[in-house]
Amino acid sequence: MAILPILEIPNPLLRQRAKKIRSLSNKTISLAHDMVETMREAGGVGLAANQVGVLQRIIVIQLPEEEEARIYLNPEILKATGSRKIEEGCLSLPGYRGIVTRSIKIRFQALDSNFKTIKFKADNLLSQALEHEVDHLNGILYTDHLVEHESLYKIEEPKPTETLSEDDLDTSSSFTIK
Ligand code: NI
Repeated sequence: MAILPILEIPNPLLRQRAKKIRSLSNKTISLAHDMVETMREAGGVGLAANQVGVLQRIIVIQLPEEEEARIYLNPEILKATGSRKIEEGCLSLPGYRGIVTRSIKIRFQALDSNFKTIKFKADNLLSQALEHEVDHLNGILYTDHLVEHESLYKIEEPKPTETLSEDDLDTSSSFTIK
């Protein structure tokens, strides 16, 4: 297994549509396992193949309370019901979070890592993660679902001491960043 570099915006691969997997190969499985390791290392709940520069329909998800990662090939949202506003972030947009609109419940279908079709209903964080990762495969980012333009925000403003050298700091100023 290997940890792969995660692409960040504005990398154009994040805006492209990934291709369907026609047959299962060792390469696909090995990539999926690398994606799991990369997601864990980055502390994410999910990762899509576009984010590691591969335009194939592979997503991986691991919910905080789950021990095993989920690997889904050719995932599809069959039905989406309801609408809710929820906070979201993405490993390809580090340092930001936003309030987006997501479905309340979904019906989901994919192939598992044995190329067997599975179908299930999901809600809460799982449905949010599945919608987020399937979006990635279609070149869609969560910022496309913002409730309003202003609902994207930085997680934390960098402190002046982290961005400026000692010489750049104006110590005569009494201004404090809170
Ligand atoms: Ni993402």
